[in-house]
This record gives sequence, structure tokens and C-alpha cells, in this order.
Amino acid sequence: MNIDTIKKEFPIFDEKIQNNDLVYLDSANSSQKPKVVIDRINEFYTKQFSNVGRSVHYLAVAATNLYENTRTSVQRYINAKDKNEIVFTKGATEALNLVANTLGQNYLQEGDEILITELEHHSNYVPWHFLRKSKNIKINFAEIKILRLLTLDQATV
Ligand SMILES: Cc1ncc(COP(=O)(O)O)c(C=O)c1O
Repeated sequence: MNIDTIKKEFPIFDEKIQNNDLVYLDSANSSQKPKVVIDRINEFYTKQFSNVGRSVHYLAVAATNLYENTRTSVQRYINAKDKNEIVFTKGATEALNLVANTLGQNYLQEGDEILITELEHHSNYVPWHFLRKSKNIKINFAEIKILRLLTLDQATV
């Protein structure tokens, strides 16, 4: 894997940010997009845009087929048993809320425990926090020991 070759696929790295090269470390949420993704989104909005699963005119059926074919591609890519296991969401926050409010709401019972880490972003804490209140469950936080090595007083440079 050549990092420079991969980086060239992302047009944003051609930009200077306040005269500096961009270093982007926030990919757990809104990740930067490679050109192939930007081009495909542009093509869809330019030539194919319609809603999915809600209309029967030509563009809507075509968009629905593209969407469902993508679900099948993702199923194959991650080796899921059934394409209906693939659920697209806008991002991590929506996905985690969906899991908490469906699986969590249906299967968790009083006294059950949820295990997350003490390093969790609030998108993976808030949905469980609300379930903790409504279902009387417990949240356990796994310690991230490696972080202790990174405290300033212990850092060696
Ligand atoms: C580390 C981390 N995880 C998850 C999220 C939530 O991601 P999304 O914006 O996809 O809901 C964020 C958003 O800021 C984040 O920084």
C-alpha cells in the first residue's frame, strides 16, 4: 500500500489550508472523499437523481435499482448473510441511535449491561445513556490503558 498514491486520489489534499498542507484526522465521522466518489455523486445528481423506493417513474426505478445493487455489493464485500442486513445511514450517530432504539429497545432488559470504552465519542454514549434511564440498564466503561502512556508528565520526546 503506497500512501502517496492513495492520497493522490483525494482532491482535497491538493488544497492549501492557511498556506499549509492539509492533515485530516477526523475520518471517524465525515471522511474526505476520493475523486471516484465525488465524480459518481456528481454524475448521480446531474443525470440520475431521484428518490429511492417511493416512486414508479423511470428515474426513481433506476435510482432504486442502483441503491439495491449497492446493498448487494456491500453484502458481498463484508460477507453478510443477507442483503437486508445492510442498512445505510447518514453517519455514525444515526447508525448508533438506530441500533440502540431497535435492538436495544427490543432485547435489553432491566439489569443488562452495555460495554463501551471510556474513550467513546458521545455518538456512542448518548443513545445508551437514554436506554439506561428508560430500561434501567447499566453502562460499563472499559479503560483505555494505553492512553495513560500518553499523559504529558510521562511523555518522552
Ligand atoms: C470520533 C467520532 N466518532 C463518531 C462521530 C459521529 O459521526 P457522524 O458525524 O458520522 O455522526 C464523530 C463526530 O464528530 C467523531 O468525531
